[in-house]
Amino acid sequence: MENRKLRIALTKGRIEEKAVSLLEEIGYDVTDLREKGRRLILSIPDEDIEVVLAKAADVITYVEHGVCDLGVVGKDTIMEHGGKFFEIADLNFGKCRFALAVKKGTDFFAGYGVKTVATKYPNVTRNFFEKKGIDVDIVKIEGSVELAPLVGLADGIVDIVETGTTLKENGLEVCEDVAYISARLIVNTVSLKLKQERIQEIIDLIEEKLK
Ligand code: PRP
Repeated sequence: MENRKLRIALTKGRIEEKAVSLLEEIGYDVTDLREKGRRLILSIPDEDIEVVLAKAADVITYVEHGVCDLGVVGKDTIMEHGGKFFEIADLNFGKCRFALAVKKGTDFFAGYGVKTVATKYPNVTRNFFEKKGIDVDIVKIEGSVELAPLVGLADGIVDIVETGTTLKENGLEVCEDVAYISARLIVNTVSLKLKQERIQEIIDLIEEKLK
């Protein structure tokens, strides 16, 4: 590994602001992060740290490849993507859940036919139904999955539910919870060995804040 600054990858979007606030709370100057414009690599002055911003799945890819040492990413992406890294801490923000949802008043488990489930998360969905021993057809959708049962493409969806508003406004309801989701701190396995002291320092600061 070349001699470079310690690099933290943050997931752009929904959990970005909370992740930046966490860095601020542990004492880092996040001015550059708050004034980032369109820049993707930001620095933390007075610290040997730089922060990169990436899409959730890419945060995992960068950490797995060791070009980023640490990452902040949702458990939803971790569950779907998998990969070789250590999941160090539950950061307690970005809380939501994976749920199986259906059109209000319908019974997903009724009857004997193989049901169709639409989702952005085919691996999560496959694992969920495999554990139950239920055979389903999975259709991968890229977004606004709630549409699929409404237009008759699927009997149900496996998707992220946060406030439940999207389901409610589209006449859907949760049929069963699949998994609890929140933002997690992940670490590259080699970085943790080679830069143990520095990384442990950061982990300790974060864990102290989470108490
Ligand atoms: C997610 C998810 C639901 C919505 C749930 O979508 O897929 O659509 O948020 O939130 P709620 O329970 O608070 O209504 P996101 O906005 O990430 O975009 P997507 O539809 O493209 O997946």
